[in-house]
Amino acid sequence: MNKKLRKAVIAGNWKMNKNRAEAKALIEELKPLVKDADCGVIVCVPFTDLETVLAATEGSNICVGAQNCHFAPSGAFTGEIAATMLTEMGVEYVVLGHSERRQYFGETDVTVNKRLRAALDAGLKPIVCVGELLEQREQGVTAEVVGMQTRIALGGVSAEELKNIIIAYEPVWAIGTGKTATADQAGEVCGLIRATVADLYGKEAADGLTIQYGGSMNAGNAAELLAQEDVDGGLIGGAALKAPDFSAIVAAASK
Ligand code: PGA
Repeated sequence: MNKKLRKAVIAGNWKMNKNRAEAKALIEELKPLVKDADCGVIVCVPFTDLETVLAATEGSNICVGAQNCHFAPSGAFTGEIAATMLTEMGVEYVVLGHSERRQYFGETDVTVNKRLRAALDAGLKPIVCVGELLEQREQGVTAEVVGMQTRIALGGVSAEELKNIIIAYEPVWAIGTGKTATADQAGEVCGLIRATVADLYGKEAADGLTIQYGGSMNAGNAAELLAQEDVDGGLIGGAALKAPDFSAIVAAASK
């Protein structure tokens, strides 16, 4: 089973939640609960929490990520953050192309690709999000949509660079809705993403790629989703805001 070759990674996406005091408290509660994790553990936090969370996680097994970065190295981009500004702080990961960025902030497949390029050049490890809308699933074009998002996001990325990338399959209809994809649905689309990557980079590269599922994953449904051959971890929104919930998902991924 190729699944055994891959590293399971559970990443929390805090979205626009937690001030600095709350962020510190959550990390302090989380640290003892995940210290023996047999999977990668990442928290992707608001920009304003990064310094606090980097300090609080120092010396622990919790890695830190941001939730976006801009594609230019510097310049007249009011309100944006450059990838090198993140690496200079010690940030390791960055979420790119989240559906909320696509939906509310005009993010497109092309800008996701540009941000991915900038993130890789700066030495960040991107967690690239793809996923279909409800209408697209109902019209039977999930494979086409997700395949296209994956191909465009990875444009110009080398096989060596692919090793630093995680792809998160997040069906938009399952995000924050309490409506989880079934384990079979999640497994099927993660498998399609892996097949797309195999087509671009070869089977060996695809077999080594960590592909997460995200969308209402919680302590109750994590084990079943993570048991799927092509689901190597989770990108967790709501359930990442409470240490017992998040650590239960980490425990499920560590089995
Ligand atoms: P959710 O969010 O777990 O709250 O559905 C997942 C995500 O948006 O990454």
